[in-house]
Amino acid sequence: MTDIRSQFLLNPDVIHLNHGSFGACPKTVFQDYQQWQLALETDTVEFFARRGPELLFNSRKVLGEFIGCDALDVVYVMNPSYALNIVIKSFPMKAGDEILTTDLEYGAMDRTWNYYCKKAGAAYVQSKITLPVCSKEQVVEEFFKGLIPRTTAVFISHITSTTGFILPVEEICAKAKELGLITIVDGAHVPGHLPLDLSTLQADIYTGACHKWLLTPKGCSFLYVKRELQHLFDPLVISWGYESDMPSNSQFIDYHQLQGTRDFSAFLTVPKALEFRKMFDWTTVSAQARKVSQANYQRFSEAANGMMMCPVSDDFLGQMCSLRINCPDFTQLGALLYSKYKIEIPVFPHGDYVYIRYSFQGYNTQKDLDVLFAALNEIRATTNLLR
Ligand SMILES: Cc1ncc(COP(=O)(O)O)c(C=O)c1O
Repeated sequence: MTDIRSQFLLNPDVIHLNHGSFGACPKTVFQDYQQWQLALETDTVEFFARRGPELLFNSRKVLGEFIGCDALDVVYVMNPSYALNIVIKSFPMKAGDEILTTDLEYGAMDRTWNYYCKKAGAAYVQSKITLPVCSKEQVVEEFFKGLIPRTTAVFISHITSTTGFILPVEEICAKAKELGLITIVDGAHVPGHLPLDLSTLQADIYTGACHKWLLTPKGCSFLYVKRELQHLFDPLVISWGYESDMPSNSQFIDYHQLQGTRDFSAFLTVPKALEFRKMFDWTTVSAQARKVSQANYQRFSEAANGMMMCPVSDDFLGQMCSLRINCPDFTQLGALLYSKYKIEIPVFPHGDYVYIRYSFQGYNTQKDLDVLFAALNEIRATTNLLR
C-alpha cells in the first residue's frame, strides 16, 4: 500500500486532524508551485506580460472541466473571502431588501454581508437551523421560514464551517430558482471533497477553495458567476482590466484577473493537484476516508461528551465531523490538545456554543482518531475543560 502520509509535507510529529481549516499540499504539487515561482523570477516580464494570460486560461480550463463550468465563467482569487467580497460589495441591494441565509455561516462572510447590507439599508436574515438536524426537509423548511416578499437572494454554505456538515444546497437552490431568487453558495470546503457539477447545480454564484480539499498550495480559490450576471460585479481592485486597452473576450475575466502585480503561481498548480489525485486514485482514497470519518463520529461524541450535528449519512457528512461541546475555555482546550497530545484540531466558538471538529483526509489513519479519543477521555477525567 502506498504511504500517502509521506506524500505530504506535514510535520510527522503532529497528528493533523485539521485539514478543513487550511488544507495540506502534497510534495509534488508544492514543487510545481515553486517551479512556477522560479519561472516568474527568472523571466519575469515574459511570465507576467506574455505567458500569464494563457497559463491562467489553461489552468481555468482544467478547473472548469473538474467543476462543470466554462473557463470564461470562473476566475481565480486568493480565498473565498476575496470572492465573496467581489460579489457582496456590488450586489444590487436597496433599502428594505432581504438576503436570506442560515445561522451556520462562516463568520467572515456574515461580517461582509452585514457591512454592505447596513450600508444599503437591506436586511441580512439568518434563519435558525435546529441542531442536530434530522433531515434535509427540515433544513429546507426552516431555511425558507425567513422568506419575505422583499427577499432577493439566498446565501448558503455548501458545507458549514464550525458545524462541519453538508447543507441541502441542491434542494435550496432549486426552490430559490422557482421563487426567482439569486443563489450564492459558499462552497469553501467542497472542491475535491464532494462531487461538484456547476452545470447542474442551480447556483448563480459559487466560490470554492482549491487549497483545502483539492490539495493546491495556499492562496488558490475561485469565483464562478453565471454569464448573465457577470456584468453586475465590479473588480474589487480597479486595475488594467477596467476599460482595458487590450480587452479579451471576457470582461469578467479582465476585471477580476488583472489585479496589479502579484504572484499567481498558486493558481497554476490546479492541473498538477488534479494529476496527483488521479495518480493516487484520490476518489477511492477520499471515499474510504469518508467512511472512516463517519464510522467514528459516535465514538467522538462519547469521548468529548458532545452533541452530534446530524445523522451519520452521506446526505450530511463528508470527511469532517463536528461536535457541540460543553467547554468553558475553547482556547485552552485547543492549546492543551496541541501542546500535550500533539493533536492539531480546531476548537472554536459559533454563536453561544463551542465546537470541536475533526477532518479525516487520505493521510490520516484510524490510529490518529484513537489517539484523539484517548486524549479527550483523559482531559474529561483530569480537567474541567470538558464537562
Ligand atoms: C464556509 C467557509 N467559508 C469560507 C472559508 C474560508 O474563507 P477564507 O479563506 O477567505 O477565510 C471557510 C474556511 O474554513 C469556510 O469554512
